[in-house]
Amino acid sequence: MDTILIQGGVPLHGEVTLSGAKNAALPLLFASLLTQDECTLRGVPRLVDIRTALGLLTELGAQADWLSANEVTLSARRVDQFEAPYALVKTMRASFLVLGPLLARFGRARVSTPGGCAIGARPVNIHLAGLQQLGAAIRIRQGYVEARASRLTGARIRLDFPSVGATENLLMAATLATGTTVLDNAAREPEIEDLAAMLIAMGARIHGAGSRTIVIEGVEALHGVSHRVIPDRVEAGTFLIAGAITSGNILVRGARADHLASFMETLQRAGVTITPEPEGIRVRGNGRPAGVQFNTRPYPGFPTDLQAQMMALLTLGEQQSSITETIFENRFMHAQELVRLGADVYVQGHTATIQGVAFLSGAPVMATDLRASVSLILAGLAARGETEVSRIYHLDRGYEHIEAKLSQLGAKIQRQTIRPVQ
Ligand code: UD1
Repeated sequence: MDTILIQGGVPLHGEVTLSGAKNAALPLLFASLLTQDECTLRGVPRLVDIRTALGLLTELGAQADWLSANEVTLSARRVDQFEAPYALVKTMRASFLVLGPLLARFGRARVSTPGGCAIGARPVNIHLAGLQQLGAAIRIRQGYVEARASRLTGARIRLDFPSVGATENLLMAATLATGTTVLDNAAREPEIEDLAAMLIAMGARIHGAGSRTIVIEGVEALHGVSHRVIPDRVEAGTFLIAGAITSGNILVRGARADHLASFMETLQRAGVTITPEPEGIRVRGNGRPAGVQFNTRPYPGFPTDLQAQMMALLTLGEQQSSITETIFENRFMHAQELVRLGADVYVQGHTATIQGVAFLSGAPVMATDLRASVSLILAGLAARGETEVSRIYHLDRGYEHIEAKLSQLGAKIQRQTIRPVQ
């Protein structure tokens, strides 16, 4: 059980380079199931979730090899298993994304239903309704989705909500269906565009990814590809807040302003100076931020995956702020931990009201999920004295080398490995 120890109050300065996006890399890894040729992915972050995805692909009979630090080759030529077991899906919900590709290429899949998680119920009804419309026979038995189709057939599908995962599953499945599929009310996240870019390079016919309506003309087979994962926009937002909350000056190399428009606009309203530069985005913190109000929304709205980090910043606001979380029903668990650091946050239903305080004070706090854990690190960087964040295994699911990257910017941060008493 590792913990992270931070001595707060040091303004961060310098440059940091982003890793590839975890949420883009996961569907891209599973897209390799759609072809019998070799696929190479570059810019794959070395994270626990990526290891879990590679473990699942290997269990299915695929081969996965690291060629260098962040480059992996995948071959799904010899896939002979079609099951994603509960043990894996419960540790990483994105494992559910094998369903579409397995069904499209092999006509069968058995995938555990993910169940709820700390931030919400997170059902998979939209994935399943869409696959049924593509002609799959689906039944749920003993906690598993069992799906079969001799060949999927194109259809017009309107998603009840622009779910990222459902859009990805259906996009992958439709590439090998007969005829044309239209996905209406599709998710528009940059990770969807990245997946479409890889699929197109594999020979898929896709138009409109990144817009509300995606049209996919099915093809007989896809071929191998070499593809680079887009930079992680959530990691980018996290480092921009690290600069703002410590009143520092950081260049976040690789950050793409076109992927972060709504987030940057909110930071600017809070009085933070954000400047796109040729190599990335620069942030300059100017003391306490102004209070702001915002709602999380599907892309291009403010991303739920940056809500906890933004809350950490707003705890130090000159005025009151308010945040309404519209994507997940239970994504304010960081609020109570921020209160332990001296923040004044009141949560009622889906809205958190934050009265800014002049300073935070270090304390022991506990991470509850991935983005919550990094919000506590951000608050710890700003707090006076020492903050110890426990349960940081959540952090290792999504942030590559975070202590090293923050140390390089001048943060006083270290990981402590606590061994159980024998
Ligand atoms: C992805 C991201 C996650 C991010 C989320 C929203 C990955 C690996 N994860 O998760 O980091 O926070 O997008 O931007 O990319 N829903 C249903 N039925 C469904 C599917 C979803 O009701 O069939 C609901 C969910 O419960 C949730 C909302 O829709 O309340 C958004 O979920 P979705 O967009 O599917 O998120 P994920 O793909 O799970």
